[in-house]
Amino acid sequence: MRIYDIIKKKRDSQELTKAEIDFFVEKYSKGEIPDYQASALLMAIYLNKMNKQETVYLTEAMMKSGDVIDLSDIEGIKVDKHSTGGVGDKTTIALAPLVAACGAPVAKMSGRGLGHTGGTLDKLEAIPGFSIEMEAKKFIDSVNEHKIAVCGQTASIAVADKKMYALRDVTATVDNISLIAASIMCKKLASGANAILLDVKTGDGAFMKTLDDSFELAKAMVDIGCGMNRETIGMITDMDEPLGFAVGNSLEVIEAIETLKGNGPKDFVMLCETLGAYMLVLAKVAKNFDEGIEKIRDAISSGKALEKLKVFIENQGGDKNIVDDYSLLPTASKIVEIKSPKSGYISKIEAEEVGVSAMILGAGRETKEDILDLSAGIILTKKVGDYVNEGDILAHMHLNKEEKLQQAKERFIAAYKIVDEKVEPKKLVYGVVT
Ligand code: URA
Repeated sequence: MRIYDIIKKKRDSQELTKAEIDFFVEKYSKGEIPDYQASALLMAIYLNKMNKQETVYLTEAMMKSGDVIDLSDIEGIKVDKHSTGGVGDKTTIALAPLVAACGAPVAKMSGRGLGHTGGTLDKLEAIPGFSIEMEAKKFIDSVNEHKIAVCGQTASIAVADKKMYALRDVTATVDNISLIAASIMCKKLASGANAILLDVKTGDGAFMKTLDDSFELAKAMVDIGCGMNRETIGMITDMDEPLGFAVGNSLEVIEAIETLKGNGPKDFVMLCETLGAYMLVLAKVAKNFDEGIEKIRDAISSGKALEKLKVFIENQGGDKNIVDDYSLLPTASKIVEIKSPKSGYISKIEAEEVGVSAMILGAGRETKEDILDLSAGIILTKKVGDYVNEGDILAHMHLNKEEKLQQAKERFIAAYKIVDEKVEPKKLVYGVVT
């Protein structure tokens, strides 16, 4: 088999076989195919697309290019949740203890963020002492004992994806549905879950900006999951404005805790309830969606989820007292009010620009080497649909680096569109793909 012939076949819009896709992924991972040929093939895939079967083969080959984690020593059905990412997305911090408190095992591997805000691991590391590094045995024992553990994704998972993603990034071949779906799903499948829930974000702050693309990506990933015998559900949820009110690592941890105390923002509570209910159904802990919602709500109102969060934090070396005393979390030295430049209804809060403003304050990384300021960020006071008078407070910025304030403030204000006509609040869930 020759890579030249595989490139030519895809260039001519022909379907690739499993053997051809396996050959490419294996040889490219090992450095036996040069970047220029891999780039040519990726561009041919980008232009001529892959069908459902080819996409499943690609995902499988990428999954097998690194370690495949075996979670079979953990009792119960392991359900993983994956979000395609967005601004203010602190979902795992609230959802993992919620679902675990209902009896479903949560064995989660998470990543760090690059770009406008931190990832789940960065947020968890805002908790003093919390460690995301765990030996495999402790990870498995923790889930069996406490039903919950979250650790960092190791470098040995889906090795081909790391190389291919870096190449796609510089060859304008990132935004192809098959390539994105295979890249996300190969890592999920290698992480050992039995069932997968996908939260595909749509809108300004999301990877997929339009509803059509978001549905197409969700469908492609559900097809892959089901094609590889993992029950998979995809939800399409809003990321046209930030999720909840808090953006920034420490601030998002507080918002997640408040949610478990029953004081969460409406959109975030709804998202946690909906995702949680589907996770319980997938884990066979709830018979149907309604029973799932009931169990999730009970875990909050009874305080069980908050207790589970404390156990989770303590088990991973963190200070559980942060749950009752937020001053133990990294705290910014300065809080600045951001006021509305005009009166009217808020019709848009560009999520991405809010994320960039928070990043400028120190909450996100511009380059991999950047060190986060875990205390920095923004707390919104208004959402789309709210009325504001000129001079009303739109948000509070939390910061330590005063020299960054002006730049962050300008970008933040520019993210708002305020109009005279009444505006309806944003919808949260656009659909479910099974
Ligand atoms: N996230 C991934 O992991 N891969 C992609 O290709 C896009 C987003």
